Amino acid sequence: MNLKEYIKIVPDWPKPGIQFKDITPLMDNGDAFRYATDQIVAYAREKQADLIVGPEARGFIVGCPVAYSLGVGFAPVRKEGKLPRETIKVEYGLEYGKDVLTIHKDAVKPGQRILITDDLLATGGTIDATIKLVEQLGGVVVGIAFLIELNYLNGRKNLEGYDILTIIPYD
Ligand code: PRP
Ligand code: MG
Repeated sequence: MNLKEYIKIVPDWPKPGIQFKDITPLMDNGDAFRYATDQIVAYAREKQADLIVGPEARGFIVGCPVAYSLGVGFAPVRKEGKLPRETIKVEYGLEYGKDVLTIHKDAVKPGQRILITDDLLATGGTIDATIKLVEQLGGVVVGIAFLIELNYLNGRKNLEGYDILTIIPYD
């Protein structure tokens, strides 16, 4: 199955110069969504992950079916002001903007093996912040899985030392 057929490229969105990779056609197709998810499930099994952590919003879409399939939990990383209980926070830079990510203080237990999921690796800012949150809570990041990686932005250099799975690379 060629999953690139299910990614729509939207020029100049949300800003001029950004070639937005729209994953909604992939999500809209049950076979394609399952095919992509199953690859991440196999990776998570190999890494013996016992909790999935993903940043809102698209990290939820990728991570939750993986957690369900493995029978492990999912912990959400959210933008500031969205989580109701005690949180820790990290500021991060985006391909197009700046923001703060937070996680509940009790979401990750020390020593837990964490797989981080997101739809796309661009500059790596979002996932670098997510790693910091997980590690501050004592979690061990055993792998990071993306549907898409924009190789030309070289986001991997911000994630050095971590194991990364990408399903659909763009050169
Ligand atoms: C997008 C995308 C990744 C991130 C990638 O999320 O879903 O999470 O940007 O960029 P980076 O590697 O440069 O950090 P966005 O913040 O637009 O929010 P969303 O997932 O809520 O749509
Ligand atoms: Mg995102």
